[in-house]
Amino acid sequence: MNARASRLLRGIALLLAAPLALACNGAHDVEAREAAAMTGGDPARGPDLMRKYGCQSCHTIPGVVGANGLVGPPLAGIASRSYIGGVLPNAPENMLRWIQDPKKVDSLTAMPNVGVTPSDARNIAAYLYTLR
Ligand code: HEC
Repeated sequence: MNARASRLLRGIALLLAAPLALACNGAHDVEAREAAAMTGGDPARGPDLMRKYGCQSCHTIPGVVGANGLVGPPLAGIASRSYIGGVLPNAPENMLRWIQDPKKVDSLTAMPNVGVTPSDARNIAAYLYTLR
């Protein structure tokens, strides 16, 4: 193939790939916006906050570096689960309650209160609701 033809092919490949990349980004944006609206938090801040509070030592959490703990359930797909901790219907206000004080919800749960502040809980919950 001559140089001109291969440039042309590369151009076509780029033209085809660009809208695809945009479409993927778009879907991600929609999820992030919906999760922010549900919780009043910023999903982009969730991963760092979860690392700060040590959630990763007990949970496997997609998108959180080093989060491969096996003590608690994996949080992949948590947005689509019906119950939180097997006891609370999965709704934003309940997620905030659980993150801040799980033992107040279920005195027998093994998940400790790690001292998450109300505003940090909103950002963490926002991120969790992007995990569909
Ligand atoms: C010491 C281990 C430990 C730490 C630290 C911990 N968790 Fe948990 N977590 C658990 C366990 C165990 C459960 C299961 C609780 C149950 O079903 O009673 C759980 C359950 C959950 C659930 C409900 C999952 C489901 O499928 O119902 C969420 C959400 C959650 N944790 C988020 C967090 C977040 C966010 C943090 C950090 C702020 C965190 N956890 C820190 C152990 C932990």
